[in-house]
Amino acid sequence: MPKLIPILNENDLKQKVKDVSKQISSDYQGCHLILIGVLKGAFIFLADLARQLTIKNIQIDFLRAASYGSDTSSSGTIQLTKDLDTDIKGKDVLLIEDIVDTGNTISFLIGHLKKFNPRSVKICTLIEKRERRKKNVNIDYACHVIEKGFVVGYGLDYAERYRNLPALYDLKND
Ligand code: IMP
Ligand code: MG
Repeated sequence: MPKLIPILNENDLKQKVKDVSKQISSDYQGCHLILIGVLKGAFIFLADLARQLTIKNIQIDFLRAASYGSDTSSSGTIQLTKDLDTDIKGKDVLLIEDIVDTGNTISFLIGHLKKFNPRSVKICTLIEKRERRKKNVNIDYACHVIEKGFVVGYGLDYAERYRNLPALYDLKND
C-alpha cells in the first residue's frame, strides 16, 4: 500500500484558497470573468474558490485534457477530451488547474483558449510543482508551491483514487 504523508491540512488549505480568492476578487473587479476548470482534478478547488469570490456574476465552464504517460508523469502528448460549452470571446478567462507540473497541459490549453479570442487568459493553480517544469508558463495565482513529490487529495488523484481526501498528501510508493 502507498503511504500518504500530510503536506497541507484542511485549515491551512482553506486559508490559502481564501487568500487567492481575495486577490482574484480584487484584480477582476468590473471584468467579465469566466472560470474554466480543468477536469477532473480541479473540481473541488474550483468549487471552493468560486464560492469565496466576492464578484457575483461570474461564469463557469470546464475543459478536460488527457495526457498519455505513466501514472505519475505526463508524456507531453495532450488531447482535449471535453471542449467549452460557453462563448469566451471578449471575456476574461481564468484557467483553474489542480497542479502545474511539466507545464505541458496548461500551455496546450492556453493555446486552445486563445483561438476563441478572449480578452485575457490567466492561470490559477492549486499547486505549482517546480522540479519537472519543461514549458515556460507564467502562473498568475498559485495557492501552494512545492519542488517535487506526487500530491493527492482535494481533487488530485493517483490512478483515480484519493480525490475525495479533504487535505493534501504526498504519495510514496513502497
Ligand atoms: P503537466 O502537464 O505535467 O503540467 O501535468 C498536468 C497534469 O498531470 C495535472 O493536471 C495532473 O492531472 C497531473 N499531475 C501532475 N503532477 C501531479 C501530482 O503530483 N499529483 C496528481 N496529479 C498530477
Ligand atoms: Mg489535472
